[in-house]
Amino acid sequence: MPERSIFRAGERLAPREVVGVDPQLEDWRQCSPAWIAGALAKAQARPSGGWYALDGSDALGREPRRFVVAGRELVAWRGPQGALRVAPDACPHMGASLSEGHVCEGRVVCPWHGLALGDEGRGRWRPLPSHDDGVVLWVRLEAPGEAVTARPILPERPAAPIAAVVRMEARCAPEDVIQNRLDPWHGAHFHPHTFAQLRVLERGDDEITVRVAYRLLGRVGIEVDARFHCVDPRTIVMTIVRGEGTGSVVETHATPLGDGRTAVIEATLATSDRPAFRVLRRFGALLVRPFMERIARRLWVEDAAYAERLAALRGGAATAERGEDRRHEAGAGRG
Ligand code: FES
Ligand SMILES: [Fe+2]
Repeated sequence: MPERSIFRAGERLAPREVVGVDPQLEDWRQCSPAWIAGALAKAQARPSGGWYALDGSDALGREPRRFVVAGRELVAWRGPQGALRVAPDACPHMGASLSEGHVCEGRVVCPWHGLALGDEGRGRWRPLPSHDDGVVLWVRLEAPGEAVTARPILPERPAAPIAAVVRMEARCAPEDVIQNRLDPWHGAHFHPHTFAQLRVLERGDDEITVRVAYRLLGRVGIEVDARFHCVDPRTIVMTIVRGEGTGSVVETHATPLGDGRTAVIEATLATSDRPAFRVLRRFGALLVRPFMERIARRLWVEDAAYAERLAALRGGAATAERGEDRRHEAGAGRG
């Protein structure tokens, strides 16, 4: 069925030569499983520095919070001057869950017998390397044979963005999340409420640039060119390279939980050179952020179903039904 035309708001982008795919082919013919597998293999060969995204920086308040990463139970809290601290969740005294305790003067206090734990550690218990980049919280876990870096490997970010982060979980592996994002062809077919007229402009070995109309309201949309590339094995970044919001990025981080599930931590860092954006950032960020989170969450409900389907096909597990349930939930608000 031919796509209905979109009324474009904002900048009209000049036509570009298509590189790396045959523009005459339908999407399903362009979308090559072999290319996706190759790009995914290249992403997986990149170093991670040992870093794993936990959640958005704003998601950790005054109380300690439990995370699981690659099967390890961790507690995160705000230490001295609000700095991020992450450590094993089990108290070194008798094993209580520290995330059920509280924080006092930058130390996490055990709920069972009141042991206050801080940077000096106790026995073999001590905080792990962690980093708060102002948008995303990170922890570093040592893996045999993997070189560590002092900081997470971050993509180029806009200087003064409005940032919003969502965290969701899916029954799949991190590579299923990355694979979903390495298939931009599904955009207008699988998320027709948000995207239209998506065309691949350029396909390299391990990155891909698309032109897509992003729906603002019904058939009114803005046209942008967006590039997808992986910066580490568990992070894929979409950068707006032309059109409204050039320089904005969406970072999708996939963190294995260790029980066949993966946390998707997606950070949207929006920017614009329009004067109105600066006003919005200063006075309206609190209003805009929930809207950005709602859009990201809606897309990820669907993309989690896609990733779970990949995992089910790979592992033969019957998890696709769960994905179907999610899509029905998401469909309640489809436009
Ligand atoms: S178990 Fe933590 S102080 Fe006893
Ligand atoms: Fe998607």
